[in-house]
Amino acid sequence: MMSIHGRKGSIRKRVFLGTALFVVCLYLSYQTFSCVGGPKVYMVPSDPIRYIYDEKNRAIPYNKEMPLIFIGGMPRSGTTLMRAMLDAHPLVRCGEETRVIPRILAMRFQWEKSAVEKKRLMEAGMTSEVIDTAISAFILEVIAKHGEAAPRLCNKDPFTLKSSIYLKQLFPNARFLLLIRDGRAVVHSIITRKVTITGFDLTSYSKCLKKWNQAMESMYSQCIQVGPSRCMPVYYEKLVLQPEYWMRKILEFLDLEWDNRVLHHEEYIGKPGGISISKTERSTDQVIQPVNLEALSKWVGRMPKDVVQDMPKIAPMLSVLGYDPQANPPNYGKPDAIVAQNTHDIQNNREYWRKKVDVIIKDIPAKRSTFNRTQNFHRTNDRSVPYRNTSSHMT
Ligand code: A3P
Repeated sequence: MMSIHGRKGSIRKRVFLGTALFVVCLYLSYQTFSCVGGPKVYMVPSDPIRYIYDEKNRAIPYNKEMPLIFIGGMPRSGTTLMRAMLDAHPLVRCGEETRVIPRILAMRFQWEKSAVEKKRLMEAGMTSEVIDTAISAFILEVIAKHGEAAPRLCNKDPFTLKSSIYLKQLFPNARFLLLIRDGRAVVHSIITRKVTITGFDLTSYSKCLKKWNQAMESMYSQCIQVGPSRCMPVYYEKLVLQPEYWMRKILEFLDLEWDNRVLHHEEYIGKPGGISISKTERSTDQVIQPVNLEALSKWVGRMPKDVVQDMPKIAPMLSVLGYDPQANPPNYGKPDAIVAQNTHDIQNNREYWRKKVDVIIKDIPAKRSTFNRTQNFHRTNDRSVPYRNTSSHMT
């Protein structure tokens, strides 16, 4: 017979063990399912490796660690020519302006600028980390999917270079090519070709030059801050005068092997696997031609006298970038024989080039067909499971 004390002790022991077991279960389920006191459950993308497929249906993985190439600068600085020359390289694909990338970057900048908005976002859990992850995924998808697959993906949306510091943060191995052109030529091009750019008053040379100055100040200082291993300033004048010398330097900077095709971009325009161009971009009819010197000094003698006189004050960035604000035109340098020949050929065969431009523009296929083809690849070869063909992945 157990004494009353003995029974009480046994009940206490059972209560103690029961409570201990309950506490342990509670702790374990808390550790597994609770997010209180630090995240215990993580959101992991179910498809962390993404692929694009080239014309031979080989999968190319893409991620934000890859050395993306961003080309930018003030519009009318030769950005389309630069991207077409790189597009002629068999390993590179830039493609048309996406238009949405600079817009999302501008939006991000607006959210950061407004203290009220920033506070509201923080309160909603929209930390910089959440926003940056989403923006980098958006930019990467747009770059990877809006054109053909290639091992080196490149983007040309001129104003993206206003955000090179931020882009470097999102894509740590990205390279930037900042196109620089004499501001007087840029503004002359904007005004005479009636290129609408937000904030630019097309009736005033001096206002446009001030805007050019402001934009270049920001882009150039960011390029310097990003550093010479990541951002390379490319002068339009030098590129068109000595294309081989500068393309060799550019490819070296991008860790790409030399390929002679970059000097003959015009031969690959509109060709399958070649250079894709847009019917609506303002530089399409110029970039169809080989590298030439037609645009170099067109601006000379076309600006109001008072603007020419006040040039050092209106656009101090001209001197910073190495242009003589008082020389009209400055001595841009000596051309290679090939570009002098190209220019001569274009000037003597205007009708031929005009017709060629018309034919190429008429033949530009609807972009939709590229996307259909990508979708077919996915459907017919069951690429919804991208890990399958790992043996054919390119790095
Ligand atoms: P102009 O408008 O002065 O003619 P972007 O593409 O950045 O807007 O730059 C456009 C400028 O690049 C145009 O300047 C255009 O002539 C020049 N460009 C385009 N293709 C060229 C080529 N094949 N050779 C030399 N310059 C070219």
